[in-house]
Amino acid sequence: MIQILPVITNKGGVGKTTTCVNLAAAFALAGRRTLIVDLDGQASASLTLGLKRSDLAVSSAQVIFGDVSVSEAAVQTKVPLLDLVPGSMDLASADLRLGRMADRVTRLRAALAPARKDYDLILLDCPPSASLLTINAVMAGDALIIPVVPSYLSIEGLISFGEMLRHIHSGVGRMAPVLGIAITRADMDKREVRMAAEVITQRYGARVFSTIIHPDPKLETAPLQGKTVFEVDASTPGALEYAALADEVIERITQLAEAVTRAKAKRAAEELTTPAPPAGQPA
Ligand SMILES: Nc1ncnc2c1ncn2[C@@H]1O[C@H](COP(=O)(O)OP(=O)(O)O)[C@@H](O)[C@H]1O
Ligand SMILES: [Mg+2]
Repeated sequence: MIQILPVITNKGGVGKTTTCVNLAAAFALAGRRTLIVDLDGQASASLTLGLKRSDLAVSSAQVIFGDVSVSEAAVQTKVPLLDLVPGSMDLASADLRLGRMADRVTRLRAALAPARKDYDLILLDCPPSASLLTINAVMAGDALIIPVVPSYLSIEGLISFGEMLRHIHSGVGRMAPVLGIAITRADMDKREVRMAAEVITQRYGARVFSTIIHPDPKLETAPLQGKTVFEVDASTPGALEYAALADEVIERITQLAEAVTRAKAKRAAEELTTPAPPAGQPA
């Protein structure tokens, strides 16, 4: 099942939190049980969902270290069907602690496993760093959503994140596929933004979501009110665009799940049609 979706890249300020929170709200409003796990020490996703700093006592850090379960840490948000495991400053020292553990890159995946039955989708709001926490998020993910604000530097950022993913893959041998690259906060009135968006689309082709998120002041001010954009104005362009992106994400998850099922069926058929080696010999 493709359920755990890290919203991830190693760059800051590219719309990870905005995308994570508003995509999750769109899923929940469409009737899907959704969880956000806030993995950022700044806890922006938690604050956007209306939590106060004083509410951030139990956080994703405790979940990663096995002190509490996801169901103990999760709080309901004001959006029906949307729960949150808050972030907190404890995440700032998580890397030091993780570094001393044998299962340092798979702890989050293991901790989230029991929550798969409670939610349809679990979105991870990731920190902007190449940390063990980020590697945990990559390892926990079933498919990655990578936001990018089109600019020359952001293209370089995508390339460097791709390299980071390759390193993780060669180091641990397992890698979630990229579900899609989401172009966000794209001011298409500016020529250089249009050009950068074009380069990204040419380079990454069908991996780029066709829904583009444009700048919308309501996306920027909603967090100040502790709200998702849907609670502020469900008909503002930013809300409609995130709802469209959510549909596209669901479409891709369905396609990816079908491709995985087909590949498994093909393997099973091959195993049945290939004569087994005589007993006692290696396959
Ligand atoms: N489409 C958008 N329109 C307007 N402001 C946006 C949009 N997307 C993000 N922002 C603003 O840009 C800033 C960075 O976005 P954020 O989601 O926090 O990025 P990240 O999590 O990658 O650091 C925030 O102030 C956010 O409100
Ligand atoms: Mg963020």
